[in-house]
Amino acid sequence: MKILVIGGTGLIGANVAEKLITKGHEVIIGSPSRGINIITGEGLSESLKGTDVVIDLSNSSSPEEENALNFFKTAGKNLVEAEQVAGVKHHLVLSIVGIDHVQYIGYLRAKKKQEDIIKNSGIPYTIIRSTQFHEHLSTIIAVQGEDDNVYVSTLDFQPIAAEDVARYVVQLALEKAKNDTIEIAGPELAPMDEFVSRYIDFTGQSKKVISDNDNKYMFFDFPKSVLVPEGTYKKGEIYFDDWAQN
Ligand SMILES: NC(=O)c1ccc[n+]([C@@H]2O[C@H](COP(=O)([O-])OP(=O)(O)OC[C@H]3O[C@@H](n4cnc5c(N)ncnc54)[C@H](OP(=O)(O)O)[C@@H]3O)[C@@H](O)[C@H]2O)c1
Repeated sequence: MKILVIGGTGLIGANVAEKLITKGHEVIIGSPSRGINIITGEGLSESLKGTDVVIDLSNSSSPEEENALNFFKTAGKNLVEAEQVAGVKHHLVLSIVGIDHVQYIGYLRAKKKQEDIIKNSGIPYTIIRSTQFHEHLSTIIAVQGEDDNVYVSTLDFQPIAAEDVARYVVQLALEKAKNDTIEIAGPELAPMDEFVSRYIDFTGQSKKVISDNDNKYMFFDFPKSVLVPEGTYKKGEIYFDDWAQN
């Protein structure tokens, strides 16, 4: 199959592209550095000629509200228009668990917009909603840290390894479009502050976790269990401790 991986140079995208190439598919890496830009439209219609599947693993340059909303709205419109002309048979997009309940947060409103544009396009689609990646822990420490302290809440947390995410993206992209949303999450649920403490220990950082019951994440208020799946979901295989120790 010919498959366009938008964001194919990113954390998940590069892994997905490599797995698809190993399986013998014709893969086009879609990113500005490869001459394909979903905001300006550069290279988009050319790359879609004869393409069966589009996998959207792009991200905005920052999570700031206006930037993210502009990015996902413009990219969604450009992608849908070009894919309709090309007759793409399956569009898969990677989104985030729980976003319906936290639409007061700009970045998550932008991700919902990204989902809605593809849902309403008439193009066969699959939406994968994932929990936070194991790899995202270092961002939490950087953003919520101050000097040697890291302030972390006890929100329910169930991170998944990027490797597991990429495996599910590949598996579902090669199946028929579900026209539905599928959730994925890691194998272990625990309070967020526990995961951060374990990560700090495993990586030998001299930081101290200050636990808080304020249900904050990235300075926003979250309902206690919104970051973990509510119903059925596909489970990742890679445990956090095994990932952190390797
Ligand atoms: N972080 C988490 O825990 C988490 C959890 C669930 C879902 N997600 C979602 O997963 C998705 C992928 O995340 P990631 O961490 O793998 O992303 P990432 O590493 O930040 O990669 C983003 C990709 O988007 C590409 N890109 C940026 N602007 C573009 C443009 N104008 N045209 C085409 N491509 C463009 C980048 O290309 P360049 O390399 O050329 O800049 C890069 O390949 C995101 O949409 C995110 O919302 C993340």
